[in-house]
Amino acid sequence: MEDKLKQLWLQAQSEIASANPANYEILRTKYLGRKSELNHLLGQIADLPIEQKAVAGQLGNQIKQQLAERLNQLAERQPKAEVELFDPTIPGLHPPLGRLHPLTQTTNELVKLFRGLGFSVADGPEVETEENNFNLLNIPDNHPARDAWDTFWLKESVGSKFNPSADGQNSKFLLRTHTSPVQIRYMKEHRPPIRIIAPGRTFRYEAEDATHSSVFYQLEGLLIDRGITVAHLKAVIDTIVKDILGSEVKTRLRPSFFPFTEPSFEVDIWFKGHWLELMGCGMVHPTVLKNGDIDPTEFSGFAFGLGIDRITMLKHGIDDIRLFLSGNLDFLEEF
Ligand code: PHE
Repeated sequence: MEDKLKQLWLQAQSEIASANPANYEILRTKYLGRKSELNHLLGQIADLPIEQKAVAGQLGNQIKQQLAERLNQLAERQPKAEVELFDPTIPGLHPPLGRLHPLTQTTNELVKLFRGLGFSVADGPEVETEENNFNLLNIPDNHPARDAWDTFWLKESVGSKFNPSADGQNSKFLLRTHTSPVQIRYMKEHRPPIRIIAPGRTFRYEAEDATHSSVFYQLEGLLIDRGITVAHLKAVIDTIVKDILGSEVKTRLRPSFFPFTEPSFEVDIWFKGHWLELMGCGMVHPTVLKNGDIDPTEFSGFAFGLGIDRITMLKHGIDDIRLFLSGNLDFLEEF
């Protein structure tokens, strides 16, 4: 028994002396664990004859103490836990970054391009008066042209609580069906030369499908000065379309009708092998200039209304307008 214990001691202490501190736990189990050889031998001591028992018992306990001490020394040579956990080579965590909505991106891009041409940005409310949205734009009540703008009317009780127009006291309220009322608002407050754009949200009461949304975005343009002609209109539109969709894109003006412009046009673009309708425009109607307190015998101008959703869809090959307001993150994260 004594020989076995001594042999175990020699083996154990030399192994511990040359061990890697990382193996501390393994060695501890091996030499002091419940199933260790030492424990096994200590268990046998009880069965020894009385005279051997005392000697072997003492030796066994000494070895156990010594091993515990050596193992503790080994444990102390282990690197500190925090130091070991810090690995400077592991890549850091990237907090997810937000991004701008694709419609906001297009709007920002358009604003930047128009600013480069000397336009400034104007604004108007989404809740408008019938005056500004229709009447002053030469679309009187009961005029058949109103059918082109399916309208969300507000209840009188809502309208009576606040009045977004400066003077339209008795006007009915609606969600603006286009950004054109900003033309009226701006003309009333400013003298020519006028050179503005007005991006914003617009509303139409209509069945939704892949190309129609009852909430959509437009960018209105208005330029008024002496001697402004269709040539200026065409030049500005051509420049912007080429900047935003590519220099290979061609434009053409096709005769059309809007009550607030005369003559009126649709802008078509030659895009990926097709003529596509892009936006309405025209020379500001003399009646509209008068409604904005501008003398049509002295000044002329052009206006246009561009669909921000439409241009974003063309730019990115998006086939369903409803995706924009769907809140679908898989879609939004593509931009
Ligand atoms: N307001 C028109 C629409 O939404 C577009 C337009 C604006 C046309 C300005 C001509 C001039 O349909």
